[in-house]
Amino acid sequence: MGSLGEPPLLEPQDHSQSLFSSLAQTPPDEPFSVNEAYMLDAHPQKVNLGIGVYRTSSGSPWPLPVVEEAERELREARNIHRHEYLAIQGDREFLRLAADLVFGFGQRRPHAGPANEGEKQQQRVVSIQTVSGTGANRLGAELLARTVVPGCVWVPDPSWANHQTIWNLAGVPVNTYPYYNAKTRTFDFDGTLQCLRGSAKANDVVVFHACAHNPTGADPTQEQWATLAQLCKQKRLIPFFDLAYQGFASGDVDRDAWAIRHFFELVPELEFCVAQSFSKNFGLYGQRVGALHVALSPATNMTGASDRLLGCLCNLVRGDYSMAPRAGAEIVRTVLGNELLRTKWVDDLTTMSERIQRMRYALYNELMQLNTPGDWKHIVNQIGMFTYIGLSETQVWSLRDRYHIYMLKSGRISISGLNERNVGYVAKGIDDVVRTVK
Ligand SMILES: Cc1ncc(COP(=O)(O)O)c(C=O)c1O
Repeated sequence: MGSLGEPPLLEPQDHSQSLFSSLAQTPPDEPFSVNEAYMLDAHPQKVNLGIGVYRTSSGSPWPLPVVEEAERELREARNIHRHEYLAIQGDREFLRLAADLVFGFGQRRPHAGPANEGEKQQQRVVSIQTVSGTGANRLGAELLARTVVPGCVWVPDPSWANHQTIWNLAGVPVNTYPYYNAKTRTFDFDGTLQCLRGSAKANDVVVFHACAHNPTGADPTQEQWATLAQLCKQKRLIPFFDLAYQGFASGDVDRDAWAIRHFFELVPELEFCVAQSFSKNFGLYGQRVGALHVALSPATNMTGASDRLLGCLCNLVRGDYSMAPRAGAEIVRTVLGNELLRTKWVDDLTTMSERIQRMRYALYNELMQLNTPGDWKHIVNQIGMFTYIGLSETQVWSLRDRYHIYMLKSGRISISGLNERNVGYVAKGIDDVVRTVK
């Protein structure tokens, strides 16, 4: 029904037609459709470089040993509350540990200030459990769309494709900034500065990938992050960090959170969001574990704004799915809350990030041996799960047709699909299409 006095929006229903018959076709999500095409392919040498999930050197999923240990502990404890509802905010101990992982409250850094500073910093962050990183991105977008009402959001070009969907659904106009310099195959710092300096307006949101940019694997340097923080401050932009690869990217959780901690500690006037995912760094993809953190300026605590903000977030969650799921968050809480398990988790992160790094070098070396035309150094310079390999869309299709090697049409490859057995085959395929297909 339209509001009072307006005609109803829809004609009365014609029962010979479905209400949805004139719906436009929604394009399929590329990583998932590439994965489905791969599953249907019966070729014995097929290779899946499409989907962003970790695989072992034998191409299998890897439940992290530390996660299996925590699962055993939780099973044996047989807590009678284990299937009860959580609070709307989520598991508060999980949230405390998750926020600490992002912001490093307990740590003493040179510019961290006096001893009680950690506690004060903690009070500057409002956290809520979410349905993994995607849910955190969406909840943050929904929050800003309803409260700040930004003129637009600036998303990197290229970016994780779901950013466009999320902000479109939240009703915020999406613009892009030029993230990738295809010539140097690095982050386009000058292009980004020029675009945001020239065109972004106060209260616009800027999405940043905190580390291991998806899809390019190219990150800003620390100096560049520092300039970006100043730019956001000068122009009163709202940073929105997507943190999907903390610890997975470099093996070092502190290093991968550097940009966020820099913004938080050195430019404290900036208020910003962090969408945190535990899919990759705990291998808990289908468990949907995540959190949204909103960092507030130090002045805010005095005003009670953080309580009102939490109330607003809880209201959005309550009206959507009541609260995030419980089981995966308990695993993360068990690991992060226990010093020994935490050390084992860091070992597991090292195992994953080192295997990715080895595979980057293996692919690079194979291409060097084949004398494949072009410069391939970016494969080892980029970081994280993905690399923009530098193939045209036609070359990507040829690789699929001739070699049954699957990747996104942009030429994004998931390095974790490579292993000692298939890397030579993949390099041969790339070499072939580079030489024969434009
Ligand atoms: C950049 C980025 N953000 C967020 C996500 C969200 O992942 P999830 O919803 O599984 O936590 C992903 C997953 O691929 C990602 O690459």
